[in-house]
Amino acid sequence: MSVFNSTKPLNIVAVSGGLNHPSKTEALVQAIIDELGEATPIQVHFIKFSEIAPLLGGAIYRKQLPQRVQDDLAAVEAADALIVGTPVYRASFTGLFKHFFDFVEQTALVDVPVLLAASGGSDRHALVLEHQLRPLFSFFQAQTLPIGVYATDRDFTLEYTIYSEALRDRITLAVARALPILEWAPAKGQRAEVVKSKTQQANQNLGINKQIEQDEVLPSAAVPSLDAAESRLHQNKVKPQVA
Ligand SMILES: Cc1cc2nc3c(=O)[nH]c(=O)nc-3n(C[C@H](O)[C@H](O)[C@H](O)COP(=O)(O)O)c2cc1C
Repeated sequence: MSVFNSTKPLNIVAVSGGLNHPSKTEALVQAIIDELGEATPIQVHFIKFSEIAPLLGGAIYRKQLPQRVQDDLAAVEAADALIVGTPVYRASFTGLFKHFFDFVEQTALVDVPVLLAASGGSDRHALVLEHQLRPLFSFFQAQTLPIGVYATDRDFTLEYTIYSEALRDRITLAVARALPILEWAPAKGQRAEVVKSKTQQANQNLGINKQIEQDEVLPSAAVPSLDAAESRLHQNKVKPQVA
């Protein structure tokens, strides 16, 4: 039974950065989708790098990407929530995973809940969720969900199904902790629109680099309202003369 009042299914976009086929990352992301689907109605657009990776590498600008990848990017930008997974390569996400998200419009994910997942060969790189994936989605002002899911090669059978009970429990916990946050996810679009227009205005008025120089404005944690932050920004345009 759904925990949500709305009967409209949540628009979930899942991304697996796994380049191989079959892929443990893909199996992990699929297991998270399945667990979420047990709890609430969802519609899923699943982007698999095992399919799109060869289409991604040569593009520098978004318009150079094949239509299929442009449609995938549009789906990410329109999602109610994301489930993202990557294999660990050299202690981080893969280069292509980052390349894909480099094309995502920078205000499109404001307040969007993102469930983080990764698969690696070693337990020692589990914190890739915290020191690589979480900062990337913090840049987007997304709401990274409290519990991420990390799996290693040992958690899977030779057929790439999940073998480990501990991993299954972790997926259940991650989804359980996500559900109360996902409840209001469809409303995030309004907030994203406000942030987007404010960002565009600020860029036009000041130039982005000049804005960063306004050091009194940057600690905006003390100014939760965007309008209040903006009026402080304008006050600071005329700096008092120092005798
Ligand atoms: C180029 C490369 C670099 C890797 N680097 C790491 C690493 O730094 N840490 C780690 O734990 N695993 C590393 N691995 C192992 C993969 O992360 C692991 O096998 C992963 O589950 C593969 O996911 P896939 O089945 O979706 O391709 C690396 C694998 C490759 C191919």
